[in-house]
Amino acid sequence: MTDFDIRKAGGRIGAEVVGLDVRTINDGLFTEINAALLEHKALIFRGQNLEDAEQVAFASRFGPLTGAHPTVPSVEGQPQILEVNGDEGIRANQWHTDVTFVRTPPKASTLRGIIVPPYGGNTLIANSATAYSDLPAPLREFADKAWAVHTNDYDYVQPQFDSEQRQEHRKVFTATKYRTAHPVVRVHPESGERGLYIGGFAQQIVGLSNRESRAILDLLQAYVIRPENIFRVQWQPGDLVLFDNRITQHYAPDDYGDLPRHLRRVTVAGDVPVNIGGEESRILEGDDARHYTPA
Ligand code: SIN
Repeated sequence: MTDFDIRKAGGRIGAEVVGLDVRTINDGLFTEINAALLEHKALIFRGQNLEDAEQVAFASRFGPLTGAHPTVPSVEGQPQILEVNGDEGIRANQWHTDVTFVRTPPKASTLRGIIVPPYGGNTLIANSATAYSDLPAPLREFADKAWAVHTNDYDYVQPQFDSEQRQEHRKVFTATKYRTAHPVVRVHPESGERGLYIGGFAQQIVGLSNRESRAILDLLQAYVIRPENIFRVQWQPGDLVLFDNRITQHYAPDDYGDLPRHLRRVTVAGDVPVNIGGEESRILEGDDARHYTPA
């Protein structure tokens, strides 16, 4: 028994963990937090005010970490930490699941708020399992068998400033091009739940034309981003957010103008996605990103 509370933020996704200092998590507490993560898919721990090393230690409870990013440099001297800085044009206002262009995308992401705007600058997190279960049967049957090609050769962050900055970011982001075929319906390795596994990096349905792919991806995506499926994180400085990257998508609305917004991200290494028949994702272009994640 522990004395923290887990308070649901909505009917389908999201909870706040109240009364827990994440620095004190031991094995017993970890089991409870991991169970909460599987159930609620996204958790917020308010007012933690972690240092870099403490964020790394918290994320490490869930397994080996990835590097900061396959192509984008880490925070200096912190190979596992990615800076998410609105001033530098890092504004993730596209629905996506982190790093799905590699064969083994992270299983979980942690984000910590350092400087957050007084309004706006939220993070929206969507439940892709309820999106899947909402599909009408014929669409579900199609999705169960479909594969999507995910690539980083697509500019999901949209620097708002001059085009030189935009081009520079894109050059770095796509320095190595990755293309991976993942199942459109992924079976969660811990809970067994099925979820739509698409998001912004998914650019093509295997066997369909670009136009057909776009129409199908848009149709499926509309189920993911229904308001019922979304948890809205309204950041306060010092907050820590954890989400299950295997069964969610997220989006950071670019609605804070020139106000500063600095977060830091640390991600936990994941495994190879499988479809409902147990078939694994496969690399189409690029390597197994061993420099970034255990292959
Ligand atoms: C991300 O995509 O990891 C960043 C999300 C955010 O800026 O809220």
